[in-house]
Formats: sequence, structure tokens, C-alpha cells
Amino acid sequence: MPQSKLFSPVTIPAKNGTGLQLRNRVVLPPMCQYSIIERNGVPTTWHLAHLGSMAHGGFSLVIAEATAVAAEGRISDRDAGLWNDEQVEAWKPITEYIRSHGAAAGVQLAHAGAKASTYGWLKELEEAGLSGSISVEDGGWETFTSAPSGLFDLKPATAMSREQIAESVQDWVAAAQRADAAGFDLIQIHAAHGYLIHQFLSPLTNQRTDEYGGSYENRTRYLREIIQAISAVWPADKPLGIRFSGEDWVEDGWGIADTVKLAGELYELGVRAFDLSSAGIGPFRGPTGPGYQVPLAQAVKQALPDDAFVTAVGSITDAIQAEHIVVSGQADGVSVGRAALGNPQWPNHAAQQLGAEKSHPPQYWRGRW
Ligand code: FNR
Repeated sequence: MPQSKLFSPVTIPAKNGTGLQLRNRVVLPPMCQYSIIERNGVPTTWHLAHLGSMAHGGFSLVIAEATAVAAEGRISDRDAGLWNDEQVEAWKPITEYIRSHGAAAGVQLAHAGAKASTYGWLKELEEAGLSGSISVEDGGWETFTSAPSGLFDLKPATAMSREQIAESVQDWVAAAQRADAAGFDLIQIHAAHGYLIHQFLSPLTNQRTDEYGGSYENRTRYLREIIQAISAVWPADKPLGIRFSGEDWVEDGWGIADTVKLAGELYELGVRAFDLSSAGIGPFRGPTGPGYQVPLAQAVKQALPDDAFVTAVGSITDAIQAEHIVVSGQADGVSVGRAALGNPQWPNHAAQQLGAEKSHPPQYWRGRW
């Protein structure tokens, strides 16, 4: 059997010419667990067990859930954070554990903007009728965005002033520094799914008339400022990543041509890991089905230099499908989300199927595959 490309190692380059070596090309994408107990953004033993099991399962890069750079940027009060040192201390044993099982530890840094202050998307809450916004009276908080927009079925958010934008850039920087202190090997900036950065990028939500709205250059300014500022403090031996919504899937919205252009600009600023998701503003209008977002990754990969690490995500559930995506050059790796919730040993099963070496913990040597 020919060697599996999916299970061949790869390096995500860093600024100083070194980089992050991954044992294979199967990445765990960030997935909110809504499992913070004390509403304090401090990760718990659940995060250790959940992310640790994914390292056991053979993922090469385990990316922790959307982790808020500021308290008001949480999707819900059950979200994880990196806005204080108590959170840093709680993440440390988790990143150490992930690494001790041969995986790299990543974290997605996030700010939900207008989509903050919700109940969080847990089945038990939805069944109790608790979904959508939490008002300030009910324990929620004021939300901020690029410009007020009726596109979210949530309470109205306040447009950020220029001072608030500048302060917010500093929140991203401080969170990146804390991510480094917590032992994360990579940060992924959450620029997707209709959250704050995407609210700036998309013409659907960004109706500002100052230098942060209007033209492509203005709408991308907030993100470029974040990347430039983080790049100045993020260690030169650790790679910097981003997750985009490659498409709003709406006419006159943010589109793949914009994403390709911006990916090139961020590459110039030092970003080397690109994950291509889509949508998040208004109801989902895009295609569905196996690998439905792969063409977005392919478009970005084709436009970037070869050393960028571009991953595809979305309904990638099968080993042969994943192998085909990387062998055919559509992407450099795959992110496998919900299939991993159903089976944290997804990469090891895929390795077995593709005739590649598994990377399960030694304790599991008698497992049946
Ligand atoms: C997600 N997703 C997600 N995306 C993101 O960028 N940050 C996040 O924190 C979350 N949280 C989250 C929680 C849960 C429970 C799910 C199922 C999904 C989206 C996720 O990373 C992925 O892009 C999608 O699930 C599509 O990939 P799969 O699941 O089809 O492999």
C-alpha cells in the first residue's frame, strides 16, 4: 500500500525559520464546550479530559475552543477565556498534557462581538427554552460590533468607537501573550462565523463610514491591525494561524475573492496556518454535503506560497475522503470536528484504514482497531 499523505508529518513554518512539526495532517478544530462552571472563563477538568482524549486519538494539532480575549467577547458565560492570569494557570496542565501525548496544542482566540451574551448552545438549555441573547437584567452584558445590524437575531449591539477598537486590539495582543505563557504552540485568530472580526470584514454587517468601514481596505483594517500587533509579540518560533469564513454565501457579502486576497496579505504579515470555514452572518445559505467547504480551502491554497498550511473543514468524516483531499492538493490537511466528538479515536482509525502508523497511547496497545 502506498504511504498515506494524510499521515505524513508536516511543519507549519514560524517567523524565525523553524516551525511546528505535526505528526500528521489531521487537526481538531475549535469546538465550544460551554462547560465553564463559575462563569469565569477558567477551563476545567472537562477541557483536560476532552482535549486530552483527542491527543490520545491521534490528532496532530488539538485546537481548544473559541477562547475569549475579553469577558464581553464571550459567546456565553460558559465560554473559556484568556483575559486573566488565573485562566493562564488553568490552561497550563492542559497544554502540557496534550503535548505529552505527541500532539501540538493550539487555541482559537475569539471575540463574539454582536453574537456575545447568549445562553450558549447546549441541548438542555435549548430544550428549556433558553437560547439566544441574555439581557443585561438577566445577567448578560452589553455587546459591541462594527456597526449595528439587523442581521443577527439577537439584542442590538453598540458600534465600537475608535478608542474601543484600539483597546480591543490590545486585548487580542494580551490574550496572545497569555496563550504563549499558557504553553500553546499555535494561536488561531477567529475571523469566521459572523463573530467580531467577521462583523468588520463583511459589507453585510460593516456599515461604518470611518477608516474601519466602506472599502475592502477599511473593512480589513481591524484584522490587519490585530495581526500586526500580535505578530510583534508572538514568539518567532511559534506559528500564527487564522480561521476565515471564506464566503458569506450571500450576494454582495464577503466572498472567496476577498478571502484569497486577504489570505495573501496576512501571509505577508506572517500568518502561515489557514483554516477555511464559511458563513455565520444571517441564516446559513451555503451548500451542504461531504466536504462542502473544501473548494474554499483549495482557492486559498492555490493563491498562497507552498509553505502555507491550509486546512479544509466541514463534513469531512471518512478516511478515504480526507486522504483524497490532501493527495489531490486541495488542502494540506483536514480539520475533523463532529466526527471526532462521536469518535475521539478518529485519526487512529483512519490511520489503520490507510495502512499508516497509529499514535495511540501505549496503554491502549491491546486495543482492537
Ligand atoms: C463548533 N464550531 C466552532 N467553530 C469555531 O471556529 N469555533 C468554535 O469554538 C466552534 N465551536 C463549535 C462547537 C461545536 C459543538 C461544534 C459541532 C462546532 C465549528 C467546528 O469547528 C467545525 O468547523 C464544524 O463543526 C464543521 O466541521 P465538521 O464538524 O463537519 O467536521
